[in-house]
Amino acid sequence: MHAADAPAPPVDAIAAASHPNPYGYYQRLRERTPLYFDTGLNLWVAGSYAAIAEALVSPSLRVRPLSEPVPRALAGGPAGDVFANLVRMNDGAFHAAHKPSLRQRAQRWKMDQVARASCEATRALRPSLGANDFLTALPAQGMACLLGVPGPQLRQTTQWAHEFSAGIAGGASVEAVVLAHAAAAGLLAQGVALGLDAAQAANRIALMQQSLDATAALLGNTVHLLRQRPEMAEQIDAAPDLTRELVAEVVRWDAPVQNTRRFAAEDLVLCGERIREGEGLLLVLASANRDPALNPDPDRFEVLRPQRRHLTFGAGVHACPAEEIAIEIVAKCINTIRGEGTFDAYFGYILGYRSLPNVRIPVFAPSSTSVPSP
Ligand code: HEM
Repeated sequence: MHAADAPAPPVDAIAAASHPNPYGYYQRLRERTPLYFDTGLNLWVAGSYAAIAEALVSPSLRVRPLSEPVPRALAGGPAGDVFANLVRMNDGAFHAAHKPSLRQRAQRWKMDQVARASCEATRALRPSLGANDFLTALPAQGMACLLGVPGPQLRQTTQWAHEFSAGIAGGASVEAVVLAHAAAAGLLAQGVALGLDAAQAANRIALMQQSLDATAALLGNTVHLLRQRPEMAEQIDAAPDLTRELVAEVVRWDAPVQNTRRFAAEDLVLCGERIREGEGLLLVLASANRDPALNPDPDRFEVLRPQRRHLTFGAGVHACPAEEIAIEIVAKCINTIRGEGTFDAYFGYILGYRSLPNVRIPVFAPSSTSVPSP
């Protein structure tokens, strides 16, 4: 590609998440402004490993603004009730009380159960979905199967999980919020029928909702890598156990969740900068993963990288409880599709990325073999 054809750098660290190649921009952030206030975004932006690692363990930084624990648009309905009970959206005593059981629930599955759920979901969904719909359908169906949702309820349940997830996202339309309330009510009723209390029922939903976009992104970014580097596809065909390692390096190298946010509950000093109560921070996890302070030769993609380190699944009290599950779902799905010999025909060339503020999900051109989704 000529320099003149190269895409313009992203306008800011949020646009970077859906940019074709944000990694040069992230490098400049780390080297010139590792922690700075972006007046356009009205957020502090942390790009270096040191700043992000310090933020993730700071007790002064919370996952929600103190003034708005539940987004105003959701308050007063079932989606707001679920949101209020999510471990992901709480700090302090509530988080401490409920995280251990959430972690236990997320880690109760053996990896061969996860692999089976991923393989079955791949075989059930792929023939009737185009590649882009498949990316998000796979983790939802895989998690619903693991949660024991009966076959006849699978379709409705995964649709609710998508609607809930879309409706609680920042900037969701009024219509999306209405759908999210109905979806939350349906999913909560399932939890009640299983004998769960309100917090347990909400965090059962989280096991599906948290998996959707992030795992779709990991799957999409792995597919994209394999399309670009056919020699690696050949390596995993010859040794399918290697796929897990390859996916683990994608986790670091092209992070599915590029950034996450924190809000100052009080004044604090972070990496020498004074942050005021109420201010927000964008922690660019994908940039930390490419920081030479975290990994030697960080821009190199190395399947068998020794002592790989990354912040893709967060760190500290809010660390994701499902890293192994996400990697297994994606690795098994890739091996299943490659084993069927349909991989290159199914996933067309990459057109760009979904326009999302934090998750990096590729968009593939329609392929010759997939049937358009309804
Ligand atoms: C590639 C896939 C995934 C990625 C990249 C990812 C990433 C993350 C990150 C970065 C956080 C912490 C957010 C923060 O501190 O601001 C998180 C939290 C969480 N994730 Fe994941 N996740 C993935 C898949 C999953 C799956 C499959 C599940 C469910 C089985 C899951 C369940 C959760 C839950 C429940 C939390 C909240 C934990 C807490 O707040 O204490 N994630 N995830």
